[in-house]
Amino acid sequence: MSDYHIAANKLRTTPILTVETESPTVKTFTFKDKECSRAKPGQFLMLWIPGVDEIPLSILSTQEDGRVSVAVKEVGEATQALHSMKAAEIIGIRGPFGNSFTEKHGRILMVGGGTGIAPLLFLAKKVASKTRKLVFVIGAKTRKELLFIDKIEALCSKSSVIATTEDGSYGIRCLATMPLEKMLDEEKFDMVYTCGPEHMLQKVFDLAEKHRIPLEASLERLMRCAIGLCGSCIIGRYRVCRDGPVFTANQLREVKGEFGIAKRDFNGRKIPLE
Ligand SMILES: Cc1cc2nc3c(=O)[nH]c(=O)nc-3n(C[C@H](O)[C@H](O)[C@H](O)COP(=O)(O)OP(=O)(O)OC[C@H]3O[C@@H](n4cnc5c(N)ncnc54)[C@H](O)[C@@H]3O)c2cc1C
Ligand code: FES
Repeated sequence: MSDYHIAANKLRTTPILTVETESPTVKTFTFKDKECSRAKPGQFLMLWIPGVDEIPLSILSTQEDGRVSVAVKEVGEATQALHSMKAAEIIGIRGPFGNSFTEKHGRILMVGGGTGIAPLLFLAKKVASKTRKLVFVIGAKTRKELLFIDKIEALCSKSSVIATTEDGSYGIRCLATMPLEKMLDEEKFDMVYTCGPEHMLQKVFDLAEKHRIPLEASLERLMRCAIGLCGSCIIGRYRVCRDGPVFTANQLREVKGEFGIAKRDFNGRKIPLE
């Protein structure tokens, strides 16, 4: 292991600085961590909630003064415990881990769903001023769950942000992938970045393949060690924590038997994706 990886994997404790409510189920937590403040878009960290668990989270933003933010959806025991924590309470951090998105500056399409919008927003902040064109399609079940829409609209000109909700409470009433079919028939893109529920990623992948556009997708799998040792995040010959979480279309083609279909449970058994 390199000095960089040893430093990244060392657990650091730090107080929560701020907690912001983004939606009824998502909160953004900000804390200081020198290592993770150097992270690139797409990388993730392991956040330890003392006495409860340690969970993988994508990095939402970093600041030069060492501040780092993550957006966390309450889904189970660990995220519920984190949601009940307040500023000044202590958490533990390891990371940053994994690879990052390749930063391209041509005509860019980003497709994000749920908290998958977080790493794409981080990427958009880095590339928005340099791209020829940036179109951001974001989807959620309802308006209340549509994350960071104001920040994304401030980054892209308004006409380049397409919001979709499943109940029609904001934007177009459909899944995030629906507007893509027409858009890709009419417009040319040099790169597609996507992050969110895996069934959405698979649909975006199929459309990018059809239109021969390079794609990078960020995947989620169960993670424990985050450094390629335990095997809980395996997909095909890859370990998502070490070889991902960002995968190219070439790599996704290799793991077609599992991508969008199966994952491993905590016992290493292959189970269907819900
Ligand atoms: C690379 C990566 C980045 C992620 N980024 C974010 C993010 O930015 N924001 C966010 O809200 N969530 C993110 N997640 C998902 C987050 O890690 C899980 O929601 C969290 O671990 C759930 O823990 P829990 O105890 O609250 O729920 P549980 O009740 O334990 O589990 C609920 C579901 O969460 C998933 N999960 C549970 N434990 C893990 C684990 N150790 N690793 C991966 N998935 C797990 C499983 O699908 C499980 O069915 C990310 C996951 C990965 C792998
Ligand atoms: S989480 Fe242990 S190998 Fe990836």
